[in-house]
Amino acid sequence: MSDTVHVLNGPNLNLLGTREPHLYGSETLADVEALCQREAERFGFALIFRQTNSEGALVDLIHAARGSFGIVLNAGAYTHTSVALRDAIAAVQVPTIEVHLSNVFAREAFRHHSYLSPVAKGVICGFGPQSYALGIAALAGLAA
Ligand code: DQA
Repeated sequence: MSDTVHVLNGPNLNLLGTREPHLYGSETLADVEALCQREAERFGFALIFRQTNSEGALVDLIHAARGSFGIVLNAGAYTHTSVALRDAIAAVQVPTIEVHLSNVFAREAFRHHSYLSPVAKGVICGFGPQSYALGIAALAGLAA
Protein backbone atom coordinates (compact mmCIF):
# COMPACT_ATOMS: atom_id res chain seq x y z
CA MET A 1 0.00 0.00 0.00
CA SER A 2 1.16 3.50 -0.73
CA ASP A 3 1.12 4.58 2.92
CA THR A 4 3.16 1.58 4.03
CA VAL A 5 6.82 1.68 4.94
CA HIS A 6 8.84 -1.54 4.89
CA VAL A 7 11.72 -1.75 7.36
CA LEU A 8 13.90 -4.64 6.20
CA ASN A 9 16.78 -6.18 8.11
CA GLY A 10 19.50 -8.49 6.87
CA PRO A 11 21.80 -11.08 8.40
CA ASN A 12 22.70 -11.26 12.09
CA LEU A 13 20.42 -8.39 13.06
CA ASN A 14 18.18 -10.94 14.80
CA LEU A 15 21.01 -11.15 17.36
CA LEU A 16 20.90 -7.45 18.27
CA GLY A 17 21.21 -6.92 22.00
CA THR A 18 23.74 -9.71 22.44
CA ARG A 19 25.76 -9.29 19.23
CA GLU A 20 28.94 -7.22 19.73
CA PRO A 21 27.14 -4.74 22.03
CA HIS A 22 30.15 -2.39 22.00
CA LEU A 23 29.34 -1.83 18.29
CA TYR A 24 25.59 -2.34 18.11
CA GLY A 25 24.34 -1.51 21.60
CA SER A 26 22.12 -3.44 23.97
CA GLU A 27 18.74 -2.88 22.35
CA THR A 28 17.15 -5.88 20.67
CA LEU A 29 15.57 -6.04 17.23
CA ALA A 30 12.19 -6.06 18.99
CA ASP A 31 13.18 -2.74 20.60
CA VAL A 32 14.12 -1.37 17.16
CA GLU A 33 10.77 -2.56 15.80
CA ALA A 34 8.92 -0.79 18.65
CA LEU A 35 10.85 2.42 17.90
CA CYS A 36 9.98 2.11 14.19
CA GLN A 37 6.33 1.49 15.05
CA ARG A 38 6.21 4.70 17.11
CA GLU A 39 7.96 6.67 14.39
CA ALA A 40 5.74 5.23 11.63
CA GLU A 41 2.59 6.14 13.61
CA ARG A 42 3.91 9.66 14.10
CA PHE A 43 3.91 10.12 10.32
CA GLY A 44 0.74 8.13 9.62
CA PHE A 45 2.53 5.19 7.98
CA ALA A 46 1.59 1.55 8.31
CA LEU A 47 4.71 -0.46 9.15
CA ILE A 48 5.94 -3.80 7.89
CA PHE A 49 9.08 -4.88 9.79
CA ARG A 50 11.03 -7.98 8.69
CA GLN A 51 14.38 -9.68 9.22
CA THR A 52 16.07 -12.50 7.35
CA ASN A 53 19.53 -14.02 7.34
CA SER A 54 19.24 -15.03 3.70
CA GLU A 55 20.23 -12.87 0.71
CA GLY A 56 17.56 -14.31 -1.61
CA ALA A 57 14.86 -13.85 1.02
CA LEU A 58 15.92 -10.22 1.39
CA VAL A 59 15.56 -9.82 -2.41
CA ASP A 60 12.03 -11.26 -2.07
CA LEU A 61 11.22 -8.83 0.76
CA ILE A 62 12.34 -5.91 -1.43
CA HIS A 63 10.13 -7.21 -4.26
CA ALA A 64 7.22 -7.46 -1.79
CA ALA A 65 7.64 -3.75 -1.05
CA ARG A 66 6.71 -2.82 -4.66
CA GLY A 67 4.06 -0.11 -4.66
CA SER A 68 4.75 0.91 -1.06
CA PHE A 69 5.73 4.38 0.15
CA GLY A 70 9.30 3.46 0.91
CA ILE A 71 11.87 1.07 2.28
CA VAL A 72 14.27 1.52 5.19
CA LEU A 73 16.94 -1.12 4.63
CA ASN A 74 19.69 -2.36 6.92
CA ALA A 75 21.15 -5.08 4.73
CA GLY A 76 23.93 -5.83 7.24
CA ALA A 77 26.98 -7.42 5.64
CA TYR A 78 25.17 -7.88 2.30
CA THR A 79 25.50 -4.09 1.93
CA HIS A 80 29.15 -4.66 1.12
CA THR A 81 28.76 -7.71 -1.12
CA SER A 82 25.42 -7.93 -2.89
CA VAL A 83 24.80 -6.94 -6.50
CA ALA A 84 21.49 -8.85 -6.23
CA LEU A 85 20.20 -6.49 -3.54
CA ARG A 86 21.33 -3.46 -5.52
CA ASP A 87 19.48 -4.75 -8.60
CA ALA A 88 16.36 -5.48 -6.52
CA ILE A 89 16.28 -1.91 -5.18
CA ALA A 90 16.75 -0.50 -8.68
CA ALA A 91 14.03 -2.82 -10.02
CA VAL A 92 11.22 -1.98 -7.60
CA GLN A 93 11.58 1.79 -7.93
CA VAL A 94 10.58 2.37 -4.31
CA PRO A 95 12.51 5.13 -2.47
CA THR A 96 14.98 3.28 -0.27
CA ILE A 97 16.91 4.68 2.67
CA GLU A 98 20.02 2.66 3.51
CA VAL A 99 20.61 2.61 7.26
CA HIS A 100 23.26 1.22 9.58
CA LEU A 101 23.43 1.21 13.36
CA SER A 102 27.17 1.75 13.41
CA ASN A 103 29.23 4.35 11.58
CA VAL A 104 30.55 2.04 8.88
CA PHE A 105 33.05 4.69 7.76
CA ALA A 106 34.74 4.61 11.16
CA ARG A 107 35.22 0.84 10.86
CA GLU A 108 37.15 -1.61 8.66
CA ALA A 109 37.87 -0.51 5.07
CA PHE A 110 35.73 -3.32 3.62
CA ARG A 111 32.68 -1.68 5.22
CA HIS A 112 33.35 1.65 3.47
CA HIS A 113 31.97 0.40 0.16
CA SER A 114 28.26 -0.16 -0.31
CA TYR A 115 26.73 -1.73 -3.41
CA LEU A 116 23.42 -0.22 -2.32
CA SER A 117 24.22 3.47 -1.81
CA PRO A 118 24.22 4.37 -5.54
CA VAL A 119 20.61 3.18 -5.89
CA ALA A 120 19.45 4.40 -2.45
CA LYS A 121 17.71 7.72 -1.95
CA GLY A 122 20.12 8.39 0.90
CA VAL A 123 22.21 6.81 3.62
CA ILE A 124 22.04 7.19 7.42
CA CYS A 125 24.60 5.53 9.68
CA GLY A 126 26.12 5.76 13.11
CA PHE A 127 23.13 6.65 15.27
CA GLY A 128 22.23 3.23 16.64
CA PRO A 129 18.50 2.46 16.52
CA GLN A 130 17.89 6.17 15.84
CA SER A 131 19.28 5.55 12.34
CA TYR A 132 16.03 3.68 11.62
CA ALA A 133 13.84 6.44 13.07
CA LEU A 134 15.74 9.00 10.99
CA GLY A 135 15.22 6.80 7.94
CA ILE A 136 11.45 6.77 8.45
CA ALA A 137 11.47 10.54 9.02
CA ALA A 138 13.50 10.97 5.81
CA LEU A 139 10.86 9.03 3.86
CA ALA A 140 8.13 11.21 5.39
CA GLY A 141 10.09 14.25 4.23
CA LEU A 142 9.90 13.03 0.63
CA ALA A 143 6.13 13.58 0.75
CA ALA A 144 6.47 17.24 1.75
C1 DQA B 1 25.61 -2.90 9.95
C2 DQA B 1 27.03 -2.63 9.45
C3 DQA B 1 27.52 -3.78 8.58
O1 DQA B 1 28.86 -3.53 8.15
C4 DQA B 1 27.52 -5.07 9.36
O2 DQA B 1 27.91 -6.14 8.53
C5 DQA B 1 26.20 -5.35 10.00
C6 DQA B 1 25.49 -4.24 10.64
C7 DQA B 1 25.13 -1.82 10.94
O3 DQA B 1 23.92 -1.74 11.15
O4 DQA B 1 25.95 -1.10 11.52
O5 DQA B 1 25.74 -6.47 10.04
O6 DQA B 1 24.74 -2.86 8.81
